[in-house]
Amino acid sequence: ANEEPPSTDLITLTRHVLSDQIRLGSSATGDLTLLLNAIQLTSKFIATNVRKARLINLVGLAGETNVQGEEQKKLDVLSNDIMVNALRASGKTAVLVSEELDEAIFIDDPYKGKYCVVFDPLDGSSNIDAGVNIGTIFGIYKVQPESTGTIEDVLRPGREMVAAGYTMYGSSCNLVMSTGNGVNGYTLDAALGEFILTHPNITIPPRGKIYSFNEGNSMYFYPPTTAYLKSIKYPANNKSPYSARYIGSMVADVHRTLLYGGIFGYPSDKKSKSGKLRLLYEAFPMAYLTEQAGGIATTGTQRILDITPKTIHERCPVFLGSRDDVQELMRFYKEVP
Ligand code: AHG
Ligand code: MN
Ligand code: MN
Ligand code: MN
Repeated sequence: ANEEPPSTDLITLTRHVLSDQIRLGSSATGDLTLLLNAIQLTSKFIATNVRKARLINLVGLAGETNVQGEEQKKLDVLSNDIMVNALRASGKTAVLVSEELDEAIFIDDPYKGKYCVVFDPLDGSSNIDAGVNIGTIFGIYKVQPESTGTIEDVLRPGREMVAAGYTMYGSSCNLVMSTGNGVNGYTLDAALGEFILTHPNITIPPRGKIYSFNEGNSMYFYPPTTAYLKSIKYPANNKSPYSARYIGSMVADVHRTLLYGGIFGYPSDKKSKSGKLRLLYEAFPMAYLTEQAGGIATTGTQRILDITPKTIHERCPVFLGSRDDVQELMRFYKEVP
């Protein structure tokens, strides 16, 4: 038959990132490669805890509330600690911002490096105890020239990030990342303990057939959101309506959107005036990946990556996905009062 033998030439995440470094020659120091190695390690470490959470009493609440007023789950706290420890130990970071920490962490010498990492250690907390997909989101800035690492180094538009990505803990563990040169996806081979390139050069289909919103908030939605949703559920000209898919873990909903196309949205509404998702460590990294994959990420009226954050935990409305779908949504935001 036609069967191909198994590959003896695996492209691991480290090899793939290293090949970028080799391509850039002497202008690359290898620091970002080492930082990304530290991030991969945190994802493997979190993944193994997620897998056995039910067995080792890691489900349920930790007993504390974070700065956004959310009850922290044990896995939120554990994942945060795993990331802070590994990022500090990498020697490559200067400033860390986490969903689970009120204030930024400034790394002192001798561990201080040139990069700032903003992260959501565990995304989709409400899904943990049901065994539904959850994830980790990260974005990376380089400190500004001359800076020794201050809050200004992370209060910058998302377009200035040098890399962003997420890891999804699902039926498989997938790390999806961009360093500004397209989007690649890797799958964890648990036996090897390595992320293997399985989704090279991810591009979002220009139009999809799926919408992903928490429609339970419909009574609070503003008219443009409502009118847009109506247009895809009751399309004109005999077209088929869109399918609804909403997991409630941004990582999983965005992952599906990158692969299948369509639109994901968490709008601002009468109850959540700025939306729910956090700009620095949820909206920016996902907007970065979406654009790198050929899609659009907007608040409805503004490109997300152009926003300059004023505070580290601020929120923003998010619509992202296939180019044509998001453009249509933007038209509603322009035309519906
Ligand atoms: P987190 O678990 O990190 O706090 O993030 C939850 C976010 C995001 O994952 C998801 O898209 C959204 O909250 C779901 O919100 P609703 O439950 O309001 O739909
Ligand atoms: Mn949370
Ligand atoms: Mn989150
Ligand atoms: Mn979280």
